[in-house]
Amino acid sequence: MVTPLRIAVTGAAGQIGYSLLFRLASGGLGDRPVELRLLEVTPALPKAEGVAMELVDCAFPLLSGIDITDDARRAFDGADLALLVGARPRTAEMTRGDLLSANGAIFTAQGQALNDVAGDDIRVLVTGNPANTNALIAQQNAPDIPAERFSALTRLDHNRALAQLALKTGTPVSEISRMTIWGNHSATQYADLSHAVVSGRPALELVDRPWIESEFLPTVANRGTAIIEARGSSSAASAASATVDAARDWLNGTAEGDWTSMAVVSDGSYGVPEGLVSSFPVQTENGGWRIVPDLEIDGFSRARIDTSVAELADERTAVRKLGLIPS
Ligand code: NAD
Ligand code: LMR
Repeated sequence: MVTPLRIAVTGAAGQIGYSLLFRLASGGLGDRPVELRLLEVTPALPKAEGVAMELVDCAFPLLSGIDITDDARRAFDGADLALLVGARPRTAEMTRGDLLSANGAIFTAQGQALNDVAGDDIRVLVTGNPANTNALIAQQNAPDIPAERFSALTRLDHNRALAQLALKTGTPVSEISRMTIWGNHSATQYADLSHAVVSGRPALELVDRPWIESEFLPTVANRGTAIIEARGSSSAASAASATVDAARDWLNGTAEGDWTSMAVVSDGSYGVPEGLVSSFPVQTENGGWRIVPDLEIDGFSRARIDTSVAELADERTAVRKLGLIPS
C-alpha cells in the first residue's frame, strides 16, 4: 500500500484554503493518496470543521484522512509538505512594518514547530504574505531543516506573466517556456521576458519594448491589487492553483528544457545576497531544485532585479530589528 503524502495546510478555513484543499484532495499533486492536516487559529476551528465536512462529502478516492487542529506541532508532526497559507491580511490602517510584525510572530512559532516535529523529507512552501520574508523567518527558526526545503510562492506571478504573454501573442500558454520572475512577491517583482520562448521563437521578437514596459510589467506586478479592487478581497482560487502548481513541480520536477519561478534561499547567484528568499528561475527534479545558471542579464533587467532585492534586504533588516530572526 502507498503511504499517503502528509500535507499540513495552515489557514485552512480561509479563502485560499477553501480552494486549495479540494485541489490537493482531488489529485492536484499526482495520484498518491493524501492525508490533510488543517491548522487554524482556535476561533476558526468550527469553520475548518465545515470545510472538512465538505471534503468528506466529495468522496475523493485519494483522500485518506483529515485532521483539524489549532496546535502547530500536531499539524506538522511527520509532515512531508507544509503549505503555510495562514497569515493576517493587511488592512488599510496597517503599515508594512505592522504586517511584518503581526505575521512574523506566526512564522517564528511555525518554523520552530516544523523544526521539532516535521518529517525528514519536509518541504515548506509559504503563500501567506509577505511570503518571501515569512519564508525567511520560518527557515531561520528551523535550523535543523536544510535551508533548501523552504520556498515562497512566486508561481502566481509566473502564471500571470505566462497568461499575459499568451494573450498578447495569441498563443496557448502551453507553447510558452522559460518565463522568469525575479525578487519579491510584491509590486517590485520583475517578470523577465529576456529568455522566454513562444512556440520556439524568442518572446522578444514577438512583443515590443513599449508594451513590455508600459503594459506587461505593470499588469503582472499590480495584478494582486487589481484583483483586490475588483473582487473586494485578494486572489484566492488563482493563488490556490499556483500553490498546487508550485508544490507539484517541486515534488515531481519541471518539464525538460523549461523552468519555473520559485523564491528560494539565495546562494549568492545573480548578485542576490546570500540568505535572502528571492525568486529565481529554477529547475526541479526528484524533490530538489537548482537555480538555472549562466543566464545573461542586461542592464534593464539588472536594475529591476536590484530594486526588488533591495526591498527584500530591507525586509530582512526589519525582521532582524523585531528579533524575529537572528542578527
Ligand atoms: P484569509 O483571511 O481568507 O484566510 C487566512 C486564514 O489564516 C484565516 O482563516 C485565519 O484564521 C488563518 N490564520 C491566521 N493566523 C493563523 C495561524 N497562526 N495559524 C493557522 N491559521 C492562521 O486569507 P486568504 O485570502 O486565504 O490569504 C491568505 C494569505 O495568502 C494572505 O497573507 C494573503 O495576502 C496571501 N496571498 C498570497 C499570494 C501569493 O501569491 N503569495 C496570493 C494571494 C494571497
Ligand atoms: C496577490 O498577488 O494576489 C496577493 O499577494 C495580493 C495581496 O496583497 O494579498
